[in-house]
Amino acid sequence: MHEHTAHQKVAMLTGANKGIGSATAEQLAELGMTILIGARNPRRGEQAAEAVRAAGGDAHPVTLDVTDPASAAYSPSKTVLNALTVQYANELRKAGILVNRRRPGYVDTDSNNHTGFLTTAQGAAVVGRLATLGADGPTGGFFGEGGPVPW
Ligand SMILES: NC(=O)c1ccc[n+]([C@@H]2O[C@H](COP(=O)([O-])OP(=O)(O)OC[C@H]3O[C@@H](n4cnc5c(N)ncnc54)[C@H](OP(=O)(O)O)[C@@H]3O)[C@@H](O)[C@H]2O)c1
Repeated sequence: MHEHTAHQKVAMLTGANKGIGSATAEQLAELGMTILIGARNPRRGEQAAEAVRAAGGDAHPVTLDVTDPASAAYSPSKTVLNALTVQYANELRKAGILVNRRRPGYVDTDSNNHTGFLTTAQGAAVVGRLATLGADGPTGGFFGEGGPVPW
C-alpha cells in the first residue's frame, strides 16, 4: 500500500500506456512517486495504471492527446523540440522548473516495429534520471545514456 505524504512527488507522463512511457511509469512508481498515466485512449490508460498498481505503485490514468489543442500542442520536429527545450528552460528557470530533452537510444517498441536493440527499461532509465534531478540540476540540455548529447 502506498502512503501519501505532504511531499509526495507526482510524475505526469504523456504516452505512458506502452513503450518507453510505460517503462518510465514503472520505474518512477518504484521510487515512490505517484504516476499520472497520460494516454489518449482511456481504456489503455486505465490498463497501464492498473499494471503499475498491481506492482505496488500508485498510478491514475489521465486522458491526454498531445495533438489535441484542448490538451496541449502539436507534433513538433526535432529542431522545434530543441528550440522549445531551450526556450522553456529559460522561461521556467526562475520558477525552479528544469526542462531537458532526452535521447532514449534505439528501443524495442511498436514505434519501430520492435527493431530496437534496447529494452524499454533501458530506454526509460535516462528519462527516470532526468525526472529525478535535484533543483540544482541542469536545464535546457539534451541527454542520452552516456550524458549530455550535442544538439
Ligand atoms: N523507440 C525508440 O527507439 C525511440 C528513439 C528515440 C525517440 N523515441 C521517442 O520516444 C517516445 C516514445 O516512443 P516509444 O518507442 O515508446 O513508442 P510507442 O511504444 O509506440 O509508444 C508511444 C506512446 O505515445 C502515445 N501517443 C502517440 N501519439 C500520441 C498523442 N497524439 N497524444 C498522446 N499520446 C500519444 C501512444 O499512445 P497509443 O497507444 O494511443 O498509440 C503510446 O503510448 C516517442 O516520442 C518516440 O519518438 C523513441
